[in-house]
Amino acid sequence: MERVGIETAIPREGEVLVVRLPPGRVAREAIVLRDEHGAVRAYENVCQHVPIPLDAGGGAFFDDDAQLVCATHGAVYRRSDGECVSGPCMGRRLAALPFVIEGERVRITIDR
Ligand code: FES
Repeated sequence: MERVGIETAIPREGEVLVVRLPPGRVAREAIVLRDEHGAVRAYENVCQHVPIPLDAGGGAFFDDDAQLVCATHGAVYRRSDGECVSGPCMGRRLAALPFVIEGERVRITIDR
């Protein structure tokens, strides 16, 4: 198995950075964002209800209350741990991706 590192900027509050993942995974993208406490988080961009991107390709990840929400059926995810707290996949979690912050960059490391 090969380890691959993908880099992106550090997201600002309220910003979601979409990062392309290498082929060979269900998730084609990662999302990197700040949680409710300002900490950086990285998840696969795959809803836990139906395995499609949370934003359905539209680029919008937050509702009017700044909650992380799936655009298709409205599942709401807690940003700090990716748990679905409302909607059809309640109790399931977004797949968290391991990362480190190196200077001004976020480096996600995955196996493929
Ligand atoms: S596909 Fe995300 S809530 Fe149904």
